[in-house]
Amino acid sequence: MKILVATDKPFAQVAVDGIRKEVETAGYTLALLEKYGEKAKLLEAVADADALIIRSDVIDAEVLDAAKQLKIVVRAGAGYDNVDLEAATAHGVCVMNTPGQNSNAVAELAFGLMVMAVRNLYNGTSGTELKGKKLGIHAYGNVGRNVARIAKGFGMEICAYDTFPAAVEAMKQDGIMPIEHVEDLYATCNIVSLHIPATPETKGSIGYDLVGRMPKGGVLINTARKEVIDEEGMLRLLGERTDLKYMTDIMPVRHTEFQSVATGRYFATPKKMGAQTAEANINAGIAAARQIVGFFRDGCERFRVNK
Ligand SMILES: NC(=O)c1ccc[n+]([C@@H]2O[C@H](COP(=O)([O-])OP(=O)(O)OC[C@H]3O[C@@H](n4cnc5c(N)ncnc54)[C@H](O)[C@@H]3O)[C@@H](O)[C@H]2O)c1
Repeated sequence: MKILVATDKPFAQVAVDGIRKEVETAGYTLALLEKYGEKAKLLEAVADADALIIRSDVIDAEVLDAAKQLKIVVRAGAGYDNVDLEAATAHGVCVMNTPGQNSNAVAELAFGLMVMAVRNLYNGTSGTELKGKKLGIHAYGNVGRNVARIAKGFGMEICAYDTFPAAVEAMKQDGIMPIEHVEDLYATCNIVSLHIPATPETKGSIGYDLVGRMPKGGVLINTARKEVIDEEGMLRLLGERTDLKYMTDIMPVRHTEFQSVATGRYFATPKKMGAQTAEANINAGIAAARQIVGFFRDGCERFRVNK
């Protein structure tokens, strides 16, 4: 049984060591394809792989065609829109992600961005504190829940919005106020932290109308996805509302326009950094290896994301 780790952007060595240990203890063979650059190398490497561990690597129908023995692909991380799920199903390949493994890392970065925003991007002027401010968590999944946990330590007032009943139940369990209408989350919160996935419903859904409801001095934090932002609408809003700030871990396509429209009120990490911690890297890689072993040994499909 050959487990291929195909990562154009490699895992940290300590994560690879952990994956190797899981795979070899189970009696399987580990193969590594790192920094492969061209797709042709990936197509060659997948030819005899039974399982694949990937990060943001694109697995499309062409890769699946080339992977004649493939039974499972695990995306070490949360988002899996880099995998063609329909094609995987058509090829009889199970696709999984490793939800929750990098959630704390992303949540901590959201607070890094929040503090930076309320301290005026560390420009030497007097800012405000997070304590006592109202935080709106837009989507209460794995990251959102960690944001709530940390926000309690900051002494913030916390509310959240999510469309999934189980997430609303989780809010109640955690003592977080559920908000019924998303508009109210924006209208009542000083800071909104985005944690929605990119779906047909959410794409381009955060823009002029919704963010424009925020009270004076509002801050939008985005550690979710670039696709959920309506960049045109956000640019227009930031131009009109010079009190608003936008901090993002996912650089917009129109980054330079954001920089000039909202100078001193806008910040984007140069590269997506939310999950870039040693801990998250190790956790997600090892979880992927364990899920593959569980799949082959016990038929466990707990984190399957395709049909
Ligand atoms: N910045 C980074 O490096 C980084 C790393 C990991 C994840 N992410 C992103 O963070 C986001 C959250 O990740 P997660 O692990 O918490 O995901 P998750 O699947 O655990 O949670 C997502 C939540 O969104 C809710 N949701 C879905 N559609 C919604 C809608 N239309 N309105 C409101 N809620 C909706 C779901 O019910 C769920 O509770 C994702 O977009 C993910 O891609 C970013």
